[in-house]
Amino acid sequence: NMWFGLTTRTRSVYASKERVNLAEIQRYEDLADPKWKGRICTRSGKHPYNLALIASMIAHHGEAEAETWLRGVKSNLARKPQGNDRAQVKAIYEGVCDLSLGNNYYLGKMLNDPEQIKWAEAVQITFPNTEERGTHVNISGMALTK
Ligand SMILES: [Fe+2]
Repeated sequence: NMWFGLTTRTRSVYASKERVNLAEIQRYEDLADPKWKGRICTRSGKHPYNLALIASMIAHHGEAEAETWLRGVKSNLARKPQGNDRAQVKAIYEGVCDLSLGNNYYLGKMLNDPEQIKWAEAVQITFPNTEERGTHVNISGMALTK
């Protein structure tokens, strides 16, 4: 027991309440579907939250299939990756895109922020892949020395 997980958070898909039918976005794999062309916003793929999700796609599907998926997601982006998770939800509120990737707890943070509550109210949060392997979670961990 050299290290411990302290917290978990899902890597969720946020979707416009007005423009997205949740039945169409049930899996991370769906993000590469050409029907989402120009409709996805995300922060940088180099951010640890997204790196870990990408690593999970490699673990589940292998490198080649994960690369194909990533190329598909990239070709669906509404804009160059930028900003943090909440900035993507703001972009959905503003009509820049219809889907984004974000940690679940940001929904609660936005609902409790007088300036951001309207962003949160424009979206529905989804927990992808619940029907099979489960939604990807990231943890905060702690290593404990003697
Ligand atoms: Fe965070």
